[in-house]
Amino acid sequence: MSFSVEYNNDELYMEKVAVKEIADSVGTPCYIYSHSTIEKNFNSYLNSLAEIDPLICYSTKANSNLAILKLYSNLGAGFDIVSGGELKRVLLAGGDTSKVVFSGVGKTDSEIEAAINADILFFNIESVDELHAINRVAISLNKKAPIAIRVNPDIDPKTHPYISTGFKKSKFGIEIASSIDVYREASKMEGINIIAIDAHIGSQIFELSSFNDSLQKLTDLADALIKENINIRYIDIGGGLAITYSKDETPPSMEEYAGIVIKHLKGKPYRPVIEPGRSLIGNAGIMITKVLYTKDGSEKNFIIIDAAMNDLIRPAFYNSHHEIIPVKQNENETRTVDIVGPICESGDFLATDREFPVVAKGDNLAVLSAGAYGFVMSSNYNSRPRAAEVLVKGDSINIIKEREKFEDLISGEKIPDFLSK
Ligand code: LLP
Repeated sequence: MSFSVEYNNDELYMEKVAVKEIADSVGTPCYIYSHSTIEKNFNSYLNSLAEIDPLICYSTKANSNLAILKLYSNLGAGFDIVSGGELKRVLLAGGDTSKVVFSGVGKTDSEIEAAINADILFFNIESVDELHAINRVAISLNKKAPIAIRVNPDIDPKTHPYISTGFKKSKFGIEIASSIDVYREASKMEGINIIAIDAHIGSQIFELSSFNDSLQKLTDLADALIKENINIRYIDIGGGLAITYSKDETPPSMEEYAGIVIKHLKGKPYRPVIEPGRSLIGNAGIMITKVLYTKDGSEKNFIIIDAAMNDLIRPAFYNSHHEIIPVKQNENETRTVDIVGPICESGDFLATDREFPVVAKGDNLAVLSAGAYGFVMSSNYNSRPRAAEVLVKGDSINIIKEREKFEDLISGEKIPDFLSK
């Protein structure tokens, strides 16, 4: 499994660029993404599923930098969005809105209106209340809103509970058993045009059987709806395919995953829509950082780096594992360390109890598999400016987001007059 970087003469490279060169010229912490890996991963989805003509709607939330969206748009991707903000990003990046699907449990009237006006492919409706809201807004605009119902197939994706979404008790979607009644209701609505069904059962899924079970339920439902003259043209199967974070993990290959999808959809009258995020960009990105200090204690040894939980929250939030490697490979002895950031929280770690080669102040480290849910989940906690982002293509280093300045952090803040004596 490729992490999009490799050593060449002990120096870490992304494509033809030495990672150290980026650390020196752009500074750290910094996210860097590989153009060729993004392209390769996208084409691997397209090629593996070619016989069923998939529409790949990149899940914008995984990494919504405008340059990244533009790159996917150039590759022919559609987009899975979950907010008006993501729609604006897709529009700014020149994305084709006729390939946009809009999920999320809390769409507001103004977000619904913007999406109808942008002529998106369809809404993934997550509640009966939302169905009524979309009908009402569409009628007020004199339009029909294309929709899928996001069904909750009650499948255990056997992943972290925070990223499981297809359980009965989850807030997402409408229970599959009652969805047929909701479709019947929707079919009578003046502002609604039913065209699809949708499910997304979770993220970082290793079990092909979970996808298999979900697809079975979706195709059964679609077949039943067609019998009732409800015109289903697309089956949106969501995203969720796992990637390698820890070197010993082996997620299903693209061919294995595609095999399951093809088995269920080949020869059926439904075009598959897939909403991958992590599996497209997770391993196309890394975060680079610098060692500030090392500190030995009687129970723990620490490497203190200039990136923190505000830059990459996944370890603190989900206890996720990210491989971390030195940018200059060394043969030093290894020791057990915690790799921690400068934030004043004990949860501010990127790795705990990790065997790691001895490094010194000033050395650069690379945190792997950081392309998805990395920068987008970063924050300004502890008044830390968010990192820069760079897109590497061949031997070119392209800054796609400047490092935030302190002024950006306080923009919009005001001290009321009564405090300014
Ligand atoms: N479609 C919908 C409706 C989703 O909610 C998601 C992710 C995706 C597609 C893309 O799933 P993927 O292919 O990336 O697994 N922050 C967490 C992940 C949250 C995923 C949320 N939904 C993390 O860092 O692991």
